[in-house]
Amino acid sequence: MKNLPIGMIDSGVGGLTVLKEAMHHLPNESFYYVADTAHCPYGSKSTHDIKQYVWQMIQFLLNKKIKLLVLACNTASAIFLKDLEKELSIPVIGVIQPGSQKAVTVTQNERIAVIATEATIQNGEYERSIKQLNADIQFKGLSCPTFVQLVESERYLLPSAQAEVDEVLSPLKDFEMDTLVLGCTHYPLLRPQIEQSIAKDVQIVDAGVESVEIIIQTLLHNKISRDITSTHPEVKFFTTGEKHGFEAIGKRWLNRKQMQVEQIEPGQLEGFVWKKK
Ligand code: DGL
Repeated sequence: MKNLPIGMIDSGVGGLTVLKEAMHHLPNESFYYVADTAHCPYGSKSTHDIKQYVWQMIQFLLNKKIKLLVLACNTASAIFLKDLEKELSIPVIGVIQPGSQKAVTVTQNERIAVIATEATIQNGEYERSIKQLNADIQFKGLSCPTFVQLVESERYLLPSAQAEVDEVLSPLKDFEMDTLVLGCTHYPLLRPQIEQSIAKDVQIVDAGVESVEIIIQTLLHNKISRDITSTHPEVKFFTTGEKHGFEAIGKRWLNRKQMQVEQIEPGQLEGFVWKKK
């Protein structure tokens, strides 16, 4: 059990922002990362479809055997974490609670904004979890429907990305937050543009990065850290869609010369159906 990999899932490259931080703090662990590129973006899809897609990736990982599951995706965490905590026999970690906790800790003026996908904002889990920690917080949620495609298409590397980010974030101008949560794991790839677009003194909280501390604590608490003496840890990547774009962004973000990406055939996932409401 201890030497099994940690499974991570996202709709695409976003969860790599969590993986990078996790690999940095847990260099002895193995990771299997699944990107559901065939169904990306999740943010505009229905709750039913998102649960079904995420369930398929989870079954794929469970068949390969993992010891811990990380929903490296805010949308999946908002919609599905509670069901999965009941359903799975391994620990499962989402990114919303750690991001909310950090934001509530660092805010001074008690005004927190969260930027995320449409599905995450509509679901309301960020507002609930932040207000549960401090009912006095003034909360503003803003969905940024174009950001995920800006990243996945690699247009985030072009100078024109700045104007697009400025436009989408303009509703935050009058809110006077001192803390901004990146409530989608794709958004750290747009961090330079986001920083440029908001006031200099606003603190940015990366929800995905904050979840890594919980991963570390969960490994320790369950006594499932990998043995130092066992063979080299392995990091494997799987995608349900086209792998070249994923590989290009992944190599750049993770500073890797090589990245082994395996494409999952649709037939491998067909039989897995999330039946529950
Ligand atoms: N990166 C994911 C998130 O954190 C999903 C984005 C999407 O596919 O819309 O929400």
